[in-house]
Amino acid sequence: MSTNYSADDLISGGDFFSRLSPPARLGVFGDPVVHSKSPVFHNAALKAAGIDACYVKIHVPVEKAAAAFRALPAAGFIGANVTTPLKAAALATVDEADGYARRCGSVNTVVVQDDRLLGFNTDGPGLARAIREEFFVDLRDLRVVLLGAGGGAGRAIAVQCAMESCERLVLVNRTVEKARALAAELAPSFRSDRLVGPVERVQAIGFDEAALREQLAHADLVINATSVGMRRTDPPLIPAALLTPNLMVYDTVYAARTRLLEDASAAGAKVANGLGMLLHQGALSFEIWFNRPAPLDVMRRALGEAA
Ligand code: ATR
Repeated sequence: MSTNYSADDLISGGDFFSRLSPPARLGVFGDPVVHSKSPVFHNAALKAAGIDACYVKIHVPVEKAAAAFRALPAAGFIGANVTTPLKAAALATVDEADGYARRCGSVNTVVVQDDRLLGFNTDGPGLARAIREEFFVDLRDLRVVLLGAGGGAGRAIAVQCAMESCERLVLVNRTVEKARALAAELAPSFRSDRLVGPVERVQAIGFDEAALREQLAHADLVINATSVGMRRTDPPLIPAALLTPNLMVYDTVYAARTRLLEDASAAGAKVANGLGMLLHQGALSFEIWFNRPAPLDVMRRALGEAA
């Protein structure tokens, strides 16, 4: 693990980060941030691309987020990644955000352009690339059941599904009102004459076994966007008996093989963990910062060695 820097190291100004060797010109902001794997593959990418810069972890409590983002230009940064719980604060602080980030209500990639900060979100496009790579299918052709649609990651994935107008989207959330509100917001993206049978193209349900069984009968892909499964002791998110061999199951948790993936795999479903999404959202950030393709194989290898 590389050194953990603090928001104050940035806010206090000076050439602290420029004096590192190589100079720190990129980083990930979060709280906590110590477990982030992003420096591992971004530093490998910077080295492979011959860019004289390093990528650091910066611990930023939410009350210091705006000041820390604002300090990026003076500190000589090219940009930053943003993780929990700062993505909404990043959107509120940047001078301009792209349409997808605005719809998500969150920014995970900041670009410094002179004294201005531009905001993007690569989580949804990163997931779409990971799904294509893992399962050889496009989100737009799938009937998706999204578990944890009410969280920040869930919202980013739901908006991506809406922008690609996937065949069906079922938003599942413990607090069902959040899923219903999101379904109503996304409904215009699903209004078309595309015929998919007798069921609505966007729906919201809670973690109710009968409702899940009914929806999974009309699904191709299940995505877990909750953090349930990070710990080995976590209870199952959905009953194992609901998982069937025809499903693809993607878990955005990348810590280990989760209970959901174990149950899905035992049922004969195709499964993948969140490492692909992590890799691709990072590669897309690299492409935004440097306007050139990311050295994906180098990044993948570095991530694989660190995982
Ligand atoms: P993030 O922004 O990282 O996605 P979050 O905003 O805390 O994290 O969202 C967590 C998501 O996981 C939410 O959808 C949450 O459901 P609620 O909106 O009802 O809180 C969901 N979640 C967390 N713990 C859960 C659990 N034990 N069972 C089901 N869903 C859970």
